[in-house]
Amino acid sequence: MSDSTFVVQVNLKKCNPPSAALREFRDAGRTGGIGYKVPAGRGDGNISLASDTVQLAPPTFNLSQLTAVFAKKGFTQDEMITLSDAHTIGRSHCTAFSNRLYNFSLTTPQDPTLDPVYAAALKQLCPPGNDPALVVPMDPSSPAILDAGGYYGAILKSRGLFTSDQTLNSTVNSADTVKKNNEYPLQWKSKFAAAMVKMGELNATTGAARVVRLNCSVVNK
Ligand code: HEM
Repeated sequence: MSDSTFVVQVNLKKCNPPSAALREFRDAGRTGGIGYKVPAGRGDGNISLASDTVQLAPPTFNLSQLTAVFAKKGFTQDEMITLSDAHTIGRSHCTAFSNRLYNFSLTTPQDPTLDPVYAAALKQLCPPGNDPALVVPMDPSSPAILDAGGYYGAILKSRGLFTSDQTLNSTVNSADTVKKNNEYPLQWKSKFAAAMVKMGELNATTGAARVVRLNCSVVNK
């Protein structure tokens, strides 16, 4: 199969996605999410370092910080909001958002932008103490399904899990994107697929160092 051949995303043997997030998404595609095509044969390297994840945005970022981080990689705010829907699948450690439950600020221990009923449920699952072993589903209504309603619908009800999720609803423009993605899931789906393909092209390795992984989750032996 040539590099330019497009293959269906859900083939686990072909190494198309470049990141853990993309792999998670592909699994979701197999378990009830959406399917789409990605270019095969992305040029990868043979080094994978956890320390490189310092480039990723933390869940405490606000809208302008997130927008700036994604813009640095060539993504619009709309694409950033559209991609964030990946948080409709998978799980998060309590430590990633427990500040919103217990020590949000000097004046208010609980984040006032978080729905109090949802906060109370999260407190049951994540008691004080920041146990690093505890995890919660990011979209409790359908944790294994990649859907627009589960994610954007939650944000519209002040139930975004991270500050970085809830903040997407904080300006007129960004809230409009959240609302439209929620209302028009088919449009969200095609924007999501396009942005995922675009993300898969980021920092691809070319030239002699180019390696195509046999298994996406590990470097070639
Ligand atoms: C917008 C900025 C983003 C921030 C601040 C962020 C932050 C996080 C955090 C804190 C977690 C929980 C990790 C843990 O506790 O184990 C997480 C999980 C996850 N994120 Fe993001 N993320 C962002 C964007 C994205 C994007 C663009 C994608 C993919 C398109 C994505 C896909 C995922 C997935 C699939 C998980 C679940 C992982 C699992 O179940 O093991 N995230 N993210």
